[in-house]
Amino acid sequence: MNVVSPPTLRDGFASQGSAFHIRNIPIHGDTILAPMDGYSDWPFRSLCRELGSAMSYTEFVKVEKILSRSKEPAKRLFFKEAERPMTFQIYGDDPDLILQAALKIQENNPDVIDLNMGCPAKTIADRGAGVGMMPTPLKIARTFRKLVKNLRVPVTGKIRLGWDRNKNYKLIARIVEEEGGSLIAIHGRTKEQRYAGNADWDAIAEVKSLVKIPVIGSGDVKTVADIDRMKAHTNVDAVMIGRGAIPNPWIFSRLDRDQVPPELVKKTIRKHLARSVEFYGDEDGSRLFRKNAVQYVMMQHLTRDERKEILKSRPSAEFLELLEKIYDSPIIAQAAAESILI
Ligand SMILES: Cc1cc2nc3c(=O)[nH]c(=O)nc-3n(C[C@H](O)[C@H](O)[C@H](O)COP(=O)(O)O)c2cc1C
Repeated sequence: MNVVSPPTLRDGFASQGSAFHIRNIPIHGDTILAPMDGYSDWPFRSLCRELGSAMSYTEFVKVEKILSRSKEPAKRLFFKEAERPMTFQIYGDDPDLILQAALKIQENNPDVIDLNMGCPAKTIADRGAGVGMMPTPLKIARTFRKLVKNLRVPVTGKIRLGWDRNKNYKLIARIVEEEGGSLIAIHGRTKEQRYAGNADWDAIAEVKSLVKIPVIGSGDVKTVADIDRMKAHTNVDAVMIGRGAIPNPWIFSRLDRDQVPPELVKKTIRKHLARSVEFYGDEDGSRLFRKNAVQYVMMQHLTRDERKEILKSRPSAEFLELLEKIYDSPIIAQAAAESILI
């Protein structure tokens, strides 16, 4: 049996050269944290960016909220300079309101503004926003024309394959490009599929061969091998990683979860919790962090009681102590050791 060293982290994103451009903005790298409501907030996003995600997308933000007195958009659109290139993602169903909201948030100096045309949630899609825009190509054309004409930052769009079996992703991709959009991200499922079945990477490849603007592929990238497989299959400029990044943000450093050294896991957990507390305050910060904590620790190695303990509410300091205890338990140490032995 040979003992091999765990893989080392890649040497940051700066050394990777310029992979592609969003209009004139160079994107150094080919993996990007997907926008995810409830997950891609500043604490997690900034962590993923440090681990190698090539740019940042906020969670989506409702245009009516941006135009109201609500404090929520400011929280969701908060970012720090180190995260750039920074994309603000918005959704709405009215081209004029979308433009007004985009003009307002452009004042916060993002690098890119992205229109969400993929969210399948009933309350959003059924009123014609998110993926609900896809059955109305003319409205998409009008919206992009207005945004591109009036914004100084590049405008991009994130789509699905369509609403149902009448997939119109090729038409929508062409419209986004013709109306001056600077990039298309595509999740290879329809609204009806939601998250069921496999993402259709052939369709992503079709979009890539159809347009000249950069294309990001999204759907079912969970391992380092998947990154390379999607790139080879579709020729996309970059891949987005969503659900797979929640338990394994180290995927942006090209590490699968079982390759991550336990010390690095602990360091990242501490950093994430500290940022969560800094951003949301101690009570909300540690409560919101629990959903990440259960995913970070390799659940299959925990007893039922340990799982329950993790999900209990407690101040952040006590929570860290608990994680330390779990991590130093023999079963986790053994699992970690096995992962570097071949
Ligand atoms: C919890 C959750 C929240 C999401 N929120 C957003 C969002 O705010 N904006 C968006 O464009 N896509 C959103 N998505 C879709 C993802 O960006 C991505 O396209 C999809 O999850 C498929 O990729 P995956 O298989 O890597 O998860 C969300 C997905 C999940 C699971």
